[in-house]
Amino acid sequence: MKVAVAADHAGYVLKEEIKKYLAERGCEVIDFGTSSAEVKVDYPDWGFKAAEAVATHKAERAVLVCGTGIGMSISANKVHGVRAALCHDHFTAVMSRRHNDANVLVLGARVTGADVARDITAAWLDEPFEGGRHAFRLDKITAYENENSKKPEASSGGGRTVVIDHPLVRHKLGLMRNRNTSSKDFRDLVQEVAGLMVYEVTRHLPLEEIEIETPIEKTNVFTLSGKKLAIVPVLRAGLGMVEGILKLIPNAKVGHIGLYRDPKTLKPVDYYCKLPSDISEREIFVVDPMLATGGSAAAAVSHIMERGGRKVSLVSLIAAPEGIAAFHEAHPNIDIFVAAVDSHLNDHGYIVPGLGDAGDRLFGTK
Ligand code: RB5
Repeated sequence: MKVAVAADHAGYVLKEEIKKYLAERGCEVIDFGTSSAEVKVDYPDWGFKAAEAVATHKAERAVLVCGTGIGMSISANKVHGVRAALCHDHFTAVMSRRHNDANVLVLGARVTGADVARDITAAWLDEPFEGGRHAFRLDKITAYENENSKKPEASSGGGRTVVIDHPLVRHKLGLMRNRNTSSKDFRDLVQEVAGLMVYEVTRHLPLEEIEIETPIEKTNVFTLSGKKLAIVPVLRAGLGMVEGILKLIPNAKVGHIGLYRDPKTLKPVDYYCKLPSDISEREIFVVDPMLATGGSAAAAVSHIMERGGRKVSLVSLIAAPEGIAAFHEAHPNIDIFVAAVDSHLNDHGYIVPGLGDAGDRLFGTK
């Protein structure tokens, strides 16, 4: 798990302790500072950075430390998508995960000793979110946040992670996640969600004004200004999204890329690539429902760019934070559009909670 840490001068010593503990547990630690207990600094400067790393999926979680924990907690909770919990004991740490799905833990170094802080951190890392009625409550917070605050932009390279969390998308995604949903319904839902995502994915397309006549009089209307588009599904699961997208942009050309993930190495192996001949002139949407390790999607984009692709975006239904981070690392300037960002990858490289293997569910092969 990737964990960001940050502290002000008052939290520095405890932050170093927590870093050691995280490393012992095998976590990858991203330290946003500060780097001294002597030089007095302002906690928001450090807290925002680590909290934003969580909000933009560069890290899955963050641990922040200041004197009381209060300043860091107030700061972190201003960042869109962050649920920061100031915990002084084991019980609140457990409950902050179980009921609040806290993605940031805040500690007060002048309140909590190193041993208790380690215990709090362990409980907070280990405890899963219970979901159910608690998810509905968090949905209310998310809805308020979406109305009232701005999401931080992801990735220093300029590539954004845009989460399309429209209620219709979330509803349909919920149906898709259900293991009892049939292949036929699953296929329909994948197309519907892909179609709904097209609105956001194509939001920037240029328009031009033309004159037409309505039955009443002449008027000016807008029309897409002939932008050439291409959809490139990553075989085989990406195929499930194509029809849904073509319904809205029927003139897009369709390329295909075949990659599979070696079950042992989890690395992508390519076996097929056929793209429109004028690919370098087209805006390209690479589609792959599950952004798990990010390996296949990153390899697909690399192949397209080697063959002349210039402007590429990735469109997935569900992403793991690990996949987003790996993809942005490989292609820092490329936007990712997703309907949901899930918790993590399991040991087999599947997204948790996810929806299983999208290819098997689309084609009924399991
Ligand atoms: C620094 O003296 C202190 O104010 C800060 O670490 C924190 O406790 C603020 O909430």
